[in-house]
Amino acid sequence: DWTTGNIVEEQVASIREQVGTKRAICGLSGGVDSAVAAAIVQKAVGEQLTCVFVDHGLLRKGEAEQVEKDFVAATGVQLKVVDAEQRFLSALAGVSDPEEKRKIIGREFIRVFEQAEREIVEQSADAGEPVRFLVQGTLYPDVVESGGGTGAANIKSHHNVGGLPDDLQFELIEPLRKLFKDEVRQVGRELGLPEAIVGRQPFPGPGLGIRIVGEVTKARLDLLREADAIAREELTAAGLDTEIWQCPVVLLADVRSVGVQGDGRTYGHPIVLRPVSSEDAMTADWSRLPYEVLARISTRITNEVAEVNRVVLDVTSKPPGTIEWE
Ligand code: XMP
Repeated sequence: DWTTGNIVEEQVASIREQVGTKRAICGLSGGVDSAVAAAIVQKAVGEQLTCVFVDHGLLRKGEAEQVEKDFVAATGVQLKVVDAEQRFLSALAGVSDPEEKRKIIGREFIRVFEQAEREIVEQSADAGEPVRFLVQGTLYPDVVESGGGTGAANIKSHHNVGGLPDDLQFELIEPLRKLFKDEVRQVGRELGLPEAIVGRQPFPGPGLGIRIVGEVTKARLDLLREADAIAREELTAAGLDTEIWQCPVVLLADVRSVGVQGDGRTYGHPIVLRPVSSEDAMTADWSRLPYEVLARISTRITNEVAEVNRVVLDVTSKPPGTIEWE
């Protein structure tokens, strides 16, 4: 019988053997998966691991700071931060199709990594040992949904599995491949990571890029970041963080509806709240949030976020809806 403790010991031993004296890099996304994957590899090979945090500009408010400060403080890991916002925005310009967005984000992500890897090798004292390994926080459900585990149809090309380019020059280390989300959190706690990281709700690798229905622009990202921060703040204040699995906040950037404010007519965008309950993200139900909490979020978003004049609630289970809108 296996426990999460066994899994860590087993992974640490096999990663040590796999990596030998070579070097590994790991992308930190800000989420619990990459943080736990990195912590396991850090435990196995220490300074041979360098974490790379690609700030793709698609993160939520405050997330970059959490990675740069909290995670580093907790693990002592070596971290290289790459500000790639401009690059991602340029690559995404004019693109509305969800799968195309995912592919672009996945592709740019890998390229930024390769660039970071070259810089890490060049700057390191023992430049003789190349970075050979790429650590990824791929979970069991990702493997299954991308057709990697069971031959199931490819439902969405999760960029951490299906979107890798053919010329990929890294060997993958995926310490979480057999685990479900709740098991990953348990492993994180056993590794002593702070609750702020371990208890964090899932957030997709492509970030807010797949929560803007329509083209992704800096102005739209800023708008969505504000609305998302309000929703998260109110859900936390109401003590609902552990009740819900996650609550994507989605901007319908290509939709406008008529509203009224004071004496004036408005013509703004809707924001969708997508609170869901789930065990493992394979299936989900919409969360029956208290009306007062929904009302507070709605009032604040429409008051505080310019250009948003309507807040709607997604009451679809998964299936048939997915959790994310794209
Ligand atoms: P869906 O939308 O497929 O989402 O029901 C299931 C879970 O996976 C997250 N998600 C992703 N995570 N890369 C990720 O790392 C992705 O491309 C991606 N797409 C969706 C989603 O937030 C939910 O928790």
